[in-house]
Amino acid sequence: MVAAAAVAEDAPGGDAPEDGPRDALIVFTPSGRRGRFSIGTSILSAARALGVDLDSVCGGRGICGRCQVVQSVGEFAKHGVSSRAEHLTAFGLVERRYHEKRAPLAPGRRLGCSTNLRGDVVIDVPPDSQVHRQVVRKRAEVHAIRVDSVVRLRFVEVARPDMHDPSGDLRRVEAALREEWDLADLRCDLEVLETLQAALRDGNWRVTVAVHGERDIVAVWPGLKDRVYGAAVDVGSTTIAAHVCDLSSGEVVASAGAMNPQIRFGEDLMSRVSYVMMNPGGEREMTAAVRAAVRDLLREAAEQGGTTPEEILDVTVVGNPIMHHLLLGLNPVELGQAPFALTVDRAIAIGARALEFGLHPGARVYLLPCVAGHVGADTAGVILSEAPYQRDEVSLVVDVGTNAEIVLGNRERMLAASSPTGPAFEGAQISSGQRAAPGAIERVRIDPASLTPRLRVIGNDAWSDESGFDADAVTGICGSGIIEVVAEMYLAGILDEDGVIRAEGAGRSDRVVRDGRTYAYVLHRGDIEVRVTQNDVRAIQLAKAALYAGVRLLMDRLGVERVDRIRLAGAFGSHIDVKYAMVLGLVPDCALEHVTSAGNAAGTGARIALLDRSSRSEIERTVRRIEKIETAVEPRFQAHFVEAMAIPHKTAAYPELAKAVALPARKPSRERGEGEGGERRRRRRGRGR
Ligand code: FES
Repeated sequence: MVAAAAVAEDAPGGDAPEDGPRDALIVFTPSGRRGRFSIGTSILSAARALGVDLDSVCGGRGICGRCQVVQSVGEFAKHGVSSRAEHLTAFGLVERRYHEKRAPLAPGRRLGCSTNLRGDVVIDVPPDSQVHRQVVRKRAEVHAIRVDSVVRLRFVEVARPDMHDPSGDLRRVEAALREEWDLADLRCDLEVLETLQAALRDGNWRVTVAVHGERDIVAVWPGLKDRVYGAAVDVGSTTIAAHVCDLSSGEVVASAGAMNPQIRFGEDLMSRVSYVMMNPGGEREMTAAVRAAVRDLLREAAEQGGTTPEEILDVTVVGNPIMHHLLLGLNPVELGQAPFALTVDRAIAIGARALEFGLHPGARVYLLPCVAGHVGADTAGVILSEAPYQRDEVSLVVDVGTNAEIVLGNRERMLAASSPTGPAFEGAQISSGQRAAPGAIERVRIDPASLTPRLRVIGNDAWSDESGFDADAVTGICGSGIIEVVAEMYLAGILDEDGVIRAEGAGRSDRVVRDGRTYAYVLHRGDIEVRVTQNDVRAIQLAKAALYAGVRLLMDRLGVERVDRIRLAGAFGSHIDVKYAMVLGLVPDCALEHVTSAGNAAGTGARIALLDRSSRSEIERTVRRIEKIETAVEPRFQAHFVEAMAIPHKTAAYPELAKAVALPARKPSRERGEGEGGERRRRRRGRGR
């Protein structure tokens, strides 16, 4: 590299005062790195020599502006430095040209490549000038994302062709990259070669080269290019989300989402696998549909972010195993039947052209690894985002959808499983259930004395007893609403711990009504009546028992009786009130302050893999050491399932929950119909649904 090699050489003669010192001490903050350099050494060169994280695209030519630093002026006793303004060369021609022609430098900012030492100084490297900067994540409890993209931009001046010393353009580009940036043994795709000659000539032999993984030349542009983009894509069975990020700052410049068009082949994953089984070749239709959706979404997000798909050079993808396979064009049929064999479980790195994403011809795609047949690259994303493998305490991470993906462990050991919760948590199989959309009841409180409900719907912040609430806008109840109403029914005594809507309720309130041979609770009266029926409660019990049983299996395997923290991932995990999830017994007992939503952790994991190249090998290593548990073949699953049908649980104590919520007293076992007869009855009920 020009700058790194110049520590002792780039002192213009005039910089060293005639009778002044021959060298100077430089202290960089915040790193604290320090060293002595010849008078006249540039700040960038000193930074390079000391391994200080100071960015550069142009290699010290004063045109990219990435190397900006600020001198700290004053007496710094702790560093033993008197950092005076005159200890740096004055604002020079190169900086003035950058300031006037390219972008104004903020007061106090200097270009590190064009500012030289004249005496001892303390130099601060602001975060935006660091190569390995960090992006702070919104929630305080998660670590920041380190930005160190796999794609780097390198500006070079390339020797012109010479009749007397014939060589190909690529050879001379490689020579410049080796000389200026220390890059050797590079490879170059045909797609890039197609653009090389024009770029060199248009740029008058000055070009910016994008190098992927310090190994592959993936793009060449004439002149200086100092910004490229990447995209993190989360392919869900219902929705697809894309976040376009600036690969140097890590900033998300735009996000876009769309429905997964595969829905027309089947609402849930298994019906899509069935479609392939019934329609040979159907996987190709689904592959084409999902690729087109990702392509459109990336174009939309790029436009929103003020860029174009041609400026996107790197994409990371997470998705469940079936989406992962369909996106790659792999037949997912084996994933629909035991033993649920994946075609490939390791991470995949391919050219974006193969997936028809319509990006820059040299763009690459990285798909995170799958964990197991039912635990996909989306879970790998969740694991990367939540990083339970970096903690001492035992974390339980649950991503609830039609299947619940469960991860349990700490830095010592990690386990994962999938549990068949079914679609009840998404509002399906519920008499008044619907997707989370405007009009859906999402929050419920029931007065324990009068059994009168208060509720709130998506799209309106007013509770039903407040002005501004529109009773006619209620359209149904979504997943988080059904969790809350069933939990509140239990807390209000409408429901007993076996999940039976008690007949006594009818004598307490007209909200409890007969419904054939059972009872129902009328949650909302209006244009549309929303009831919670006995069947609805059973559907929720079955779903939550499946989830809890999967968690319990992993706890058995890990040999723990309690978990230290619980993170609920995914859309459901974001909207659910953790207190109610615990009242219903979806998850084991845990101090409520340690039970939190992880938001869209799979998408965040994709973003981490996009921005921090080291995270890719980290998640690949982690996934390899995860112990996979197949709930379908675990003999104890059924026993755990039956016990977990009770609310919150038949035998497990919930002391932490009891500190925060007044739980109804448990019935004595005889009254609960314990014993073989009661057990058999419940098993029959469970199987019947
Ligand atoms: Fe590019 Fe200084 S390194 S302007």
